[in-house]
Amino acid sequence: MKIALTGVRGQLGWELARSLAPLGELLLWDRVMADLTRPATLDALVDHHKPDVIVNAAAYTAVDKAEDDAVTARLVNADSVDVLARAARRHSTMLVHYSTDYVFDGASSTPYREDAPTAPLNVYGQTKRAGELAIAASGCDHLVFRTSWVYATRGANFMLTMLRLAAKLDALKVVDDQTGAPTPARVLSNLSAHALAQAMRERAEGRFESGLFHLTTEGTTSWHGYASAMIEYARNVAPAGRVRAGHIEAVPSSAYPTRAARPRNSALDNSKFDRRFTLVRPHWWDALAQLLDERLEYDA
Ligand SMILES: NC(=O)c1ccc[n+]([C@@H]2O[C@H](COP(=O)([O-])OP(=O)(O)OC[C@H]3O[C@@H](n4cnc5c(N)ncnc54)[C@H](OP(=O)(O)O)[C@@H]3O)[C@@H](O)[C@H]2O)c1
Repeated sequence: MKIALTGVRGQLGWELARSLAPLGELLLWDRVMADLTRPATLDALVDHHKPDVIVNAAAYTAVDKAEDDAVTARLVNADSVDVLARAARRHSTMLVHYSTDYVFDGASSTPYREDAPTAPLNVYGQTKRAGELAIAASGCDHLVFRTSWVYATRGANFMLTMLRLAAKLDALKVVDDQTGAPTPARVLSNLSAHALAQAMRERAEGRFESGLFHLTTEGTTSWHGYASAMIEYARNVAPAGRVRAGHIEAVPSSAYPTRAARPRNSALDNSKFDRRFTLVRPHWWDALAQLLDERLEYDA
């Protein structure tokens, strides 16, 4: 099986390159090989390589920057996804794609199901929603995973920012009025690879059904809860002096105004994924502890 993977240098792409390796031959496409700001070039790429699967981990993820750069965000998150999906349809290629909790406005008091109405609050969310719709309209075989609060031991993310600040400052202020599920790229990549393997077996048996699934760790917290759990754990396992911050103050989102608005409730109901795939999603706290063990050992 030939699998083309885009966005190989991103948090998720990096982990997918490992998780997908046992499934077949990987074509690793960075932005030089597959530039998603140039959708018109992607047809020829897919026509030439004819992969059995395209896993699209590339995306324009700079949420605040997207407010002033909507054209590029749309090219990457919507127009290129449309081209990839239609090429996948032409070649009977399976498309695996990722979307976001930011397609919702966050006003719900309960976790969002896949069929809940979307109402993105920002350009990033709007362009990611347009990508979802393009895939559905293309008629290609697909798995789309909506996830949230992605982080990893490398890249730019909340965990690495908090660890850096906690090493420098005595006290931190963290937002406590946004709820979500911190999801390691590795958890996502492992679950995606197993789900893809199941999907390819279903396809071979003629019983595959495309779908959009919510896919995060189990449980939810706030950014403040996430930071507090992280610092407490890090204090116990990190080398002495590595965690300086003692107090983590809970503050409202209004204390940190951002260019793009964010949903208050990002909790996603994963029960559709759990019913379809016989896989176990870890709790966000256990997943965090594992990543911290790795990261802090590396830092030591
Ligand atoms: N991060 C989150 O909190 C979050 C939350 C919900 C959903 N998601 C979704 O999860 C997926 C993976 O996100 P991530 O956290 O891994 O993002 P990431 O670390 O920002 O990685 C994005 C990747 O896309 C690549 N890329 C950006 N513009 C490109 C272009 N024009 N052409 C080709 N490649 C391009 C980047 O390339 P370079 O490395 O060269 O810049 C990078 O490899 C995305 O679909 C994202 O929308 C993420």
